[in-house]
Amino acid sequence: MDEPLELSVNGRPVRCRVPAERLLVALLREDLGLTGTHQGCDTAQCGACTVLVDGAPVKSCNLLALQADGSQVTTIEGLAPADQADGTLHPMQQAFGEHHGLQCGFCTPGMVLRAVAMAAEGVPAEPAAVRYALSGNLCRCTGYEGIVAAVCQGLRQMRGEAG
Ligand code: FES
Ligand code: FES
Repeated sequence: MDEPLELSVNGRPVRCRVPAERLLVALLREDLGLTGTHQGCDTAQCGACTVLVDGAPVKSCNLLALQADGSQVTTIEGLAPADQADGTLHPMQQAFGEHHGLQCGFCTPGMVLRAVAMAAEGVPAEPAAVRYALSGNLCRCTGYEGIVAAVCQGLRQMRGEAG
């Protein structure tokens, strides 16, 4: 039997009914059409499905949609401020572009959202700390040098430090 669900996704209220077993990643991708959240492993290992739930990074393949009831969810589609219709990116997205922190791009939405959460967690903008914090996000293209450099720059910019 479907259950009622209310949450905010990228600042927009969502009210619907979902089966108890519906995963958050399925709600986002299939019900809401937010396909920037990727599915890689479906076993909470790769991090491609990472989104922010009340600001915390969550692997959405490992969370029931009903567990996000009442939460504010941010996906890659909602990261840049909605009022910036000119295509301006979030500083972390900008940093990934500048440092070529992606190859095929499959892991990138999850990497970017995990990296954004590092700012609030106080992760230092240093390669070793960033690598440790990124350990739950895998890149099959093995582009880690660019990813780590991008995250360091993105963290500095989010903190108002020199890029
Ligand atoms: S698809 Fe969720 S962690 Fe891989
Ligand atoms: S850029 Fe291809 S999986 Fe990371």
